[in-house]
Amino acid sequence: MADIESILKEERVFLPPSQFASAARIKSLDEYARLYERAAREPEGFWAEVAKELHWFSPWTQVLDWNPPWAKWFVGAKTNLAYNCLDRHLGTPRKNKAALIWEGEPGDRRTVTYQQLHREVCRFANVLSRLGIRPGDRVMIYMPLIPEIAVAMLACARVGATHSVVFGGFSAEALRDRTNDAGAKLVITADGGYRRGKVVPLKANVDQAVKDTPTVENVIVVKRTGESIAWVPGRDHYWHEVIEAASDKHDAVPLDSEHPLFILYTSGTTGKPKGIVHTTGGYMVGTYLSTKWVFDIKEEDTFWCTADVGWVTGHSYVVYGPLSNGATTMMYEGAPDHPEPDRFWRLIDAYDVSIFYTAPTAIRSFIRWGEQWPMKHDLTSLRLLGTVGEPINPEAWMWYHKVLGGGRCPIVDTWWQTETGAIMVSPLPGATPTKPGSCTRPLPGVVADVVAKDGRSLGPNEGGYLVIKKPWPSMLRTIHGDPDRYVKQYFSEIPGVYFAGDGARRDADGYFWVMGRVDDVINVAGHRLGTMEIESAIVSHPKVAEAAVVGRPDELKGQGIVAFVTLKKGNDPRPELQDMLREHVAKEIGALARPDEIRFTEALPKTRSGKIMRRLLKEIASTGAAKGDTTTLEDMSVLLRLSTSSEEE
Ligand code: PRX
Repeated sequence: MADIESILKEERVFLPPSQFASAARIKSLDEYARLYERAAREPEGFWAEVAKELHWFSPWTQVLDWNPPWAKWFVGAKTNLAYNCLDRHLGTPRKNKAALIWEGEPGDRRTVTYQQLHREVCRFANVLSRLGIRPGDRVMIYMPLIPEIAVAMLACARVGATHSVVFGGFSAEALRDRTNDAGAKLVITADGGYRRGKVVPLKANVDQAVKDTPTVENVIVVKRTGESIAWVPGRDHYWHEVIEAASDKHDAVPLDSEHPLFILYTSGTTGKPKGIVHTTGGYMVGTYLSTKWVFDIKEEDTFWCTADVGWVTGHSYVVYGPLSNGATTMMYEGAPDHPEPDRFWRLIDAYDVSIFYTAPTAIRSFIRWGEQWPMKHDLTSLRLLGTVGEPINPEAWMWYHKVLGGGRCPIVDTWWQTETGAIMVSPLPGATPTKPGSCTRPLPGVVADVVAKDGRSLGPNEGGYLVIKKPWPSMLRTIHGDPDRYVKQYFSEIPGVYFAGDGARRDADGYFWVMGRVDDVINVAGHRLGTMEIESAIVSHPKVAEAAVVGRPDELKGQGIVAFVTLKKGNDPRPELQDMLREHVAKEIGALARPDEIRFTEALPKTRSGKIMRRLLKEIASTGAAKGDTTTLEDMSVLLRLSTSSEEE
């Protein structure tokens, strides 16, 4: 019997439009299959060939040193990621091309060319050196989404400092704990940032945090809002003042391929944050290649990944992937609904964005706000759409395809994780026919499988655990300060392979369908069901915008299904609709999955990166209130509203 049962039936298939395919880097499924086969047969040769497209100060003596679960890639080689993102392009026509196009929430705009970015990064690298930052030192970055955040990261990479970006929406306590875990010497921040028209007091949070961070010696502050802030002379330095004195000449430091590039703390939907460690050479190669192939990136593209740089998606696909490819990357500081729910469409129209990459949670918000907003703008510059972060429900996929993509843009549903560093399973847009809700097939060089708990490979449509069977260049190397946890968390659950923590099945065509986190699986009368499939069935109802299902203890069935549902604008949460939705699910995927209870809510509790926190909903469904760890929750009031309403029942 399958470890997780699959009940979702999705039959729609979309071929890559022929015009897109003929101009794409990878043009057909055959070409993909050949590349896949080559990489599988000879992975080290495959990756070495990719790596040779980039700049190395000195070559490797060995492509891979795999002493499970410890990997070293491009052993002995020296490189520098900032050099590859900047210097490498300077002698080419990209020199005066826009590297970064940026818009602030208030509407201020900046365009930074490769040459300008290079100079800014060199200046800031000199500042870091002057403040005593040496290779291997840790630097915290706690900033709004402004060009300086990319400058700060690249300058760290240039001098060999290991950066740790903490999302600007996190609290002083979160910053403090991460700073202490990393043992950082420097914090780079701003006086504040803009979010929904309000100022986020970043510097005040830093002041609060560094009261209890003994390792921090200096704080650099970008003047973004001009609000008055507290100042500690000697410790605090204004960015614009320190760079003024710094030279714009700087030689990138040749770093060992395994030099730690960054630590990124995953907030996660469960458990305490962990510092995921990525190193230089392998991460560079993985993000470079995936950007090139998955986004089919071309010289003339304007690529907009909407993620904040505080998440891995922003590291890999706002900064390092696009810049190492010499592409134009876009950044927008603020909220998608400020001043109105069409801000993103305005931006796409204004800058002729051609590739747009966002999260299912954002797409479901767009659906809720209504298609009148995108309809007001010319979105014909778009040629490719992407999604990441959660399984995308087929109906949300269809909306993305029709309303934003005008039916002409392929969609790349990219499965990966903070831990994987780069995209692992995804369509190649000119080659792979897509199916709504499936992230399709692994990229060449990625050996993914769906297995049972004992490691046995499962057959078509049998649900099980998503694993990666061979090391890949951009894989995490460890958890900062806790190698045992690295082994336990990722390489112990299932013998001999990397365990991703996701449930999945593979269909008869070898397509992967991610069914959600295995911790969220619901056991109904002995049937183990993934959350994604039931949620997708609910979301396929025309009145529904978003749904989250959880299990709660049930004397008869083991677990009963409770669904938290938000409706599209203009629909009343009437009691009849609860019955209609329960029947709708039974009809779509079977009586087994019929929710025992439907609860309407204005909003769902999410992490700051937009993932639904089912753990909290589970508590609410079974006890009426959530008492567990809520530090990563985006909006506390959502939880309070949900808890109160349940207590009244
Ligand atoms: O559960 C999977 C889900 O997000 C998890 C990784 O989250 P994080 O480390 O925050 O990284 C997000 C950005 C890479 C995965 O274990 N996930 C991510 N992308 C997809 C997905 N689930 C289904 N389909 C996806 N495309």
